[in-house]
Amino acid sequence: MAKGKKTVYFCQNCGHEENKWLGQCPACKQWNTFVEEEVVASAGSAGKGRSGTGQSSGQARAVTLAQIEKEREERYTSHIAELDRVLGGGIVPGSLVLVGGDPGIGKSTLLLQLCQKLAGDERDVLYISGEESLQQIKMRAMRIGSFTDHLKLMCETSLDTVRATIEREKPQVVVIDSIQTMYSELVSSAPGSVSQVRESTNVLLQIAKGLGITIFIVGHVTKEGQVAGPRVLEHMVDTVLYFEGDRYATYRLLRSVKNRFGPTHEIGVFEMSSDGLREVANPSEFMLEGKPDAAPGSVVVCCMEGTRPMLVEVQALATRTSFGFPRRTASGCDFNRINLLIAVLSKRLGIDMSDEDAYVNIAGGIRLNEPAIDLGIVLALVSSYRNKVIDENMMVFGEVGLSGEVRGVTMPEQRVLEARKMGYTTCILPQASMRAVKGVTGIELIGVRHIGEAVAKLS
Ligand code: TYD
Ligand code: MG
Repeated sequence: MAKGKKTVYFCQNCGHEENKWLGQCPACKQWNTFVEEEVVASAGSAGKGRSGTGQSSGQARAVTLAQIEKEREERYTSHIAELDRVLGGGIVPGSLVLVGGDPGIGKSTLLLQLCQKLAGDERDVLYISGEESLQQIKMRAMRIGSFTDHLKLMCETSLDTVRATIEREKPQVVVIDSIQTMYSELVSSAPGSVSQVRESTNVLLQIAKGLGITIFIVGHVTKEGQVAGPRVLEHMVDTVLYFEGDRYATYRLLRSVKNRFGPTHEIGVFEMSSDGLREVANPSEFMLEGKPDAAPGSVVVCCMEGTRPMLVEVQALATRTSFGFPRRTASGCDFNRINLLIAVLSKRLGIDMSDEDAYVNIAGGIRLNEPAIDLGIVLALVSSYRNKVIDENMMVFGEVGLSGEVRGVTMPEQRVLEARKMGYTTCILPQASMRAVKGVTGIELIGVRHIGEAVAKLS
């Protein structure tokens, strides 16, 4: 083996590094994920990358805070309001943004639309694709609309060429689609491997910080939901956005899970149409589309996605079990939570569902993990069990504790206002949250302390 080179073993799931092969990764506990990769001991990127960006370490100088503000432009808008929201108010010059998601979810489409808007704003944009040919990109672009000449495209996988092109063209924004196709000659392992992905991201990071160019990186996600090649990448970038959605539904959620320049857990909502992604400004309306009228087991809850309230329908179905052992399923919410709430119902209200199958579904294919939907699940279950319709102009929220108490949740006012905006006339909410919504008029507010009080309102 050549001098200066060594081989190490990387877990392909989480990027954990070991000197020897192991059957199970000690970090992420996955089996059979270690692959041998050759690394350059002198970490070629560190020296080369920095001098390449025109800020060689010899000239680097420390600056005061006041100086930084003068040099740097504030954020600018992407002209896609939903994207601006998840980025924390716009694009920050010199930031590195990772856009992850399943294949086919619409990452390339979203970023091409971003390029379209920015180029229309007379910003120079460079779109580098390692996955598709120029013809394929053109076909996609024709579906989306017209583009100005401020957008330049290139098909390339060699990191050296990419770097040279960016340094020559000096665009304001670069899109790399995808990081798994980028290839550095310094690293001998295959594109997409942990060391290649790490090296490529490192080089792009130096370009972004050195030249003040914003770089959007597309990363594919593995089955486990991590960006392949993966957590290594999340540490290095400034912002991590995940593009998710049900394969069979048209809406897509763009979620920020890490953001050095803004709040996390914000979501942007899009709809995939025949001419690209459309923004959904009113997700509640979208999520409640197709809600049945006057059906037992259906109730509307309000969850918060970041700072944004969203009304969603919770459905429950309780039917007599045909085998001795009752079935419970949860889709879109936590299975254990369902079991817990059924146990609370049985112990605190004497509603015994031990010979009832119970199915709970969050309509629309969205996943909710917020405890504020607990009360909605409880009411939907009771409604289906007793075959009693819940008033369709009613919205509920509240966390349910083990004694059956209804506990306060965050941001009650936003939730109530969203319900009023959507035309709901009644809202059942935790008594503890009543003080925060005192000033709200135009909707009847019913504060409850215990699930018993909420269930009593059903009839
Ligand atoms: P794409 O952006 O290629 O996904 P990714 O880059 O995340 O792999 O999205 C591809 C899907 O979107 C594909 O199934 C076709 C669909 N699509 C539309 O429905 N309408 C459109 O206008 C475009 C461009 C794509
Ligand atoms: Mg793509």
